[in-house]
Amino acid sequence: MQSLRTIGVFTSGGDAPGMNACVRAVVRAAHAHDLEVLGIRRGYEGMIEGDIVELDGKSVSNIVQKGGTILKSARSKAFRTPEGRATAAQQLRRAGIDGLIAIGGDGTLRGAALFYEEHGVPLVGCPGTIDNDLFGTDETIGYDTALNTAIENIDRIRDTADAHDRLFLVEVMGRDAGFIALNCGIGGGAELVLIPELLTDLDDVKRKILSQMSSQTRSSIVVVAEGDELGGANRIAEALRKDPAFDPIDLRVCILGHTQRGGSPTVRDRVLASRLGAAAVDALVEGHANVMVGIVNGSIVLTPSRTVWSRRKSIDYDLLKLTEILR
Ligand code: F6P
Repeated sequence: MQSLRTIGVFTSGGDAPGMNACVRAVVRAAHAHDLEVLGIRRGYEGMIEGDIVELDGKSVSNIVQKGGTILKSARSKAFRTPEGRATAAQQLRRAGIDGLIAIGGDGTLRGAALFYEEHGVPLVGCPGTIDNDLFGTDETIGYDTALNTAIENIDRIRDTADAHDRLFLVEVMGRDAGFIALNCGIGGGAELVLIPELLTDLDDVKRKILSQMSSQTRSSIVVVAEGDELGGANRIAEALRKDPAFDPIDLRVCILGHTQRGGSPTVRDRVLASRLGAAAVDALVEGHANVMVGIVNGSIVLTPSRTVWSRRKSIDYDLLKLTEILR
């Protein structure tokens, strides 16, 4: 293996709070190993265009607490083509980059595995997505902050729902996964949680809501993951409104959307991101390539990139049972 001198770091896919803390950790840990660090802006898109900047120690000062990503992020169509990846490899050679650290979600790691297989650039991934849907780590960077943002909003909705005796369908992010919905559902005392991992039966949903609204409480919160197969909160609301049994019910929809992606990262996310960034540098230095660093049961683990995106991380079915008991 050629010796490592210069590493490139980039953030890719949907941004997540804590990505900056991770970039900072990568830069500082790399300097501790006497490595140079270059920042690739706008993910794979910037890699293809050669949008590369030097990252010295000062460039990552005062960012640990900031949301978003100083390196910016993008979803690149061009990188999905062999030609795009070949151009990206050329740009890396030109910049003298001999190892990469990618911070992003499953799309990022999918691209990373292909890139390594075709062009052999050693690459270590750091799990960064609010969705928490990556196999190989208990938590992803940004997930805890997103949970806290969502729960703060759900608490506010609870106040107004209660004041008006209303039913609220609150949609949280999670294109393919219900981690945010499930945990916010429990934390926010939701009457019902709908997630993509579990088939949603509309009649059952109606029954549960109607019995809830007519019994001890006159307000209700249903947390819906955007990826629920019934089609998200708006579609479910439409279906409920068509049923005359719902005529007396004052129903509102609130989509929390991208509010969940922004904001200052929680301390938990900052520490997670810092540990993962430093561990990714260690992994590259030790000669690992095509792996993702994660934390499982408190310890750093490495998982092959292909395993990360070919296996589905399971939700905790005990938590799901708990939502039924507690509602
Ligand atoms: O992957 C993270 C995520 O926030 C998903 O939960 C959501 O579906 C998606 O990104 C939204 O992506 P975009 O910002 O590109 O619309």
